[in-house]
Amino acid sequence: MTANELRAAELRELLNRYGHEYYVLDAPTVPDAEYDRLFRELQALEEAHPELAVSDSPTRRVGGAPLDAFESATHLVPMLSLNNAFSNMNENNSLDRHAEIYQFDDRVRKSLGVNQVEYATEPKFDGLAISLIYENGVLIRAVTRGDGVSGEVVTDNVRTIRSIPLRLKRQEPQGFLAVEALPTLLEVRGEVLMKKNDFLKLNETQLSLGHKPFANPRNAAAGSLRQLDSKVTAKRRLSFFAYSIAQVEGAIWPETHYGEMVWLKELGFPIAQGELRPVVPGVAGLIAYYEKVLTLRGDLPYDIDGVVYKVNSRSSQETLGFVSRAPRWAIAHKFQAEEAKTTVEAIEEQVGRTGAITPVARLKPVFVGGVTVTNATLHNEDEVRRKDVRVGDTVIVRRAGDVIPEVVSVVLAQRPMQPAAGGDLFSAGEEPRYPAYRLPTACPVCGSHVVREEGEAIARCSGGLSCRAQRSQAIQHFAGRRMMDIDGLGERYIDKLVEYGYVKSVADLYRLKLEDLLEMKRRADEDEGVTPETVKAGKVASKWAENLIEAIDASRAPPLARLLFALGIRHVGESTAKTLADWLGSMALIRRCPAALFAALPDIGGVVADSLADFFAEDNNEKALDALLAEVKPADEHAPSPKLRERLDDAALLARLAIPRLTEVRSQQLAAQRSLAWLGQSERRALLELELPAEVVNALADWLDEPGRRAALASLAGLRDEILASLPAAAEAAALPLEGKTLVLTGTLPTLSRDQAKALIEAAGGKVSGSVSKKTHYVVAGEEAGSKLAKAQELGVAILDEAGLQALLAGN
Ligand code: IVH
Repeated sequence: MTANELRAAELRELLNRYGHEYYVLDAPTVPDAEYDRLFRELQALEEAHPELAVSDSPTRRVGGAPLDAFESATHLVPMLSLNNAFSNMNENNSLDRHAEIYQFDDRVRKSLGVNQVEYATEPKFDGLAISLIYENGVLIRAVTRGDGVSGEVVTDNVRTIRSIPLRLKRQEPQGFLAVEALPTLLEVRGEVLMKKNDFLKLNETQLSLGHKPFANPRNAAAGSLRQLDSKVTAKRRLSFFAYSIAQVEGAIWPETHYGEMVWLKELGFPIAQGELRPVVPGVAGLIAYYEKVLTLRGDLPYDIDGVVYKVNSRSSQETLGFVSRAPRWAIAHKFQAEEAKTTVEAIEEQVGRTGAITPVARLKPVFVGGVTVTNATLHNEDEVRRKDVRVGDTVIVRRAGDVIPEVVSVVLAQRPMQPAAGGDLFSAGEEPRYPAYRLPTACPVCGSHVVREEGEAIARCSGGLSCRAQRSQAIQHFAGRRMMDIDGLGERYIDKLVEYGYVKSVADLYRLKLEDLLEMKRRADEDEGVTPETVKAGKVASKWAENLIEAIDASRAPPLARLLFALGIRHVGESTAKTLADWLGSMALIRRCPAALFAALPDIGGVVADSLADFFAEDNNEKALDALLAEVKPADEHAPSPKLRERLDDAALLARLAIPRLTEVRSQQLAAQRSLAWLGQSERRALLELELPAEVVNALADWLDEPGRRAALASLAGLRDEILASLPAAAEAAALPLEGKTLVLTGTLPTLSRDQAKALIEAAGGKVSGSVSKKTHYVVAGEEAGSKLAKAQELGVAILDEAGLQALLAGN
């Protein structure tokens, strides 16, 4: 070893020891300044001699180069979850109160065939599970739980957590026992969390920097662990507690859970303090432990959301095994959600990314479950009515772990009252000062009308294309592969484009300039504390932005069905979009249709038809669509399908109007007597002449008397007549240029995409098939056509280029 190597090894050893004393044992033996001096010496040494920098050097704790994305890794041993049990504090004897724990103990004892089971206890840390892998004593990989099967590799970030050993500690020789070798492989599992005081400090910093504070320590820990730039994580002060071992090679695996914990502690890992993890002899011990931890909970430096009981013997654990995704040898005994009393200052509405409108109670701030709560969800309109929550009310709020706080109930006795209106001194009663809650009819964000579908609890904003709350989601959908297929426009960029105001509506995508994209990226990196390598090198990476602009441009002439699907109209999927495009042919017509016309098309039911009509009835959507159509032009618009003729007669339309009692049969009878146009002009009296049962006539008359109904009928009849007049004559219809013809597409056409060509062929009555046979009428071949072209030549099938196809389509 050279002198430098020796010194570096010595410094690492010292720093590791001092760090462990400070962060794990909470018992420093040297002043901070001494630690810092040694740290800088090691840093300087490694900088001067890069070959000395090893992956477990304490200098790695300050973070490294930012990543573009996390890699994912499969867990060799799946990361399971725990079954939960709760205690019912309303029961008065211990057995009933903790019935679920007794049942757990019964199951365990029966399966093991014993009278009493020894349990290891532990707090249930409220953070994120992580798996740490050590090879030959060195931390080589850290992976998040993910879905339990595979997670994200966050090694750089985890190295910044001071209490996690980068290298396992060698054990001191005990008595005459020889020092045991370090395991060649060790997988340790535990919880990453943020201590309460580190959380409070972080939020102060966040606020002073103008950033959003985190809702609770758990979110702060999750957000910090998932930073692509480990330098940011390093500043966040995360903590760790080990709670299990998943793999051991090259060392003896302790026989009990308690033994595992002791060993992990010796290897340098932080574990729960001793009094929080006693081994107890049976169920009574579990309950006593639970009660004790409840009293200690508030004083702990970190959040816990319950306690965990594990069968102590590992061989018994093995006997018990697993059911589905949880072990039968362990259970989480969760604490009841905490509740508190406060008053409602206002009830407002929040609009989610999908347009769902949620009433939210603005509360007088109250401390509950470890955080100050100022808002609580009221879920939906029916829930507010059921609980009858009003402004001014005193309410009980509940907060459980990560869950959004909710209003549990109203203390009616404390509701503010006032003398009843119109009463006098003697007869007056009192009435509530504030009225019962009603959901607004206009979206609080964009003013579009609010729709609540029949049988649905959730009300939604109908301004999907323009509402600020829904922009990101709407654009993500719009750009999707099966929609406008804009390659390279991912969620992160969309969020940022929307956040910074570059894109307010889908049309804005088409006006983005290269500078806008580069500027957006620069701001996003800055906000997230990322400094890309290119920036460090003083260069600007712009290829991605050029590609993105190109991809956006390439989406300017989509098939109509894709454009319709891309609009994100509720209930309108790919197949509905195709039906609309096939039958109605153009956006100009589709956007004018009332619900009954949509419902007259095959496979479109009342809910979908209403949703379509609602969408186009919203002015904000109309404006957004106008703006979009100034940039985008569907490539395959055509006249309405001649088949419409059979679907738009009066009887069919009447039956689609959802008039009470007007069944399919009654609609036919009515249509045989009078026309739609007649109904649109008739007074109630005139209807009495109809030969229909009195209750049908009455229901029809009531329906017509609702405001706007007659005008709607008249315009429906008018639009229908207009459509029918625009249809090609029946004889022509049969003579669609490609009626009955099968075509095969191969290779790349000069201007049309495959989807566009297919849509055009289908609109002209033809079919597109995937393979060439004797029954194929034409093969349309572009550049780099392969085996299909050869097959066509072999079979003597007619071969066309794009121009030839266009000529066919034009009927030549
Ligand atoms: S043992 C096979 N012990 O709870 C069971 N988990 O619901 C492995 N957790 O994902 C988990 N404290 O994030 C265990 N002392 C503790 C724990 C604990 C918190 C979390 C962990 C896990 C979840 C399971």
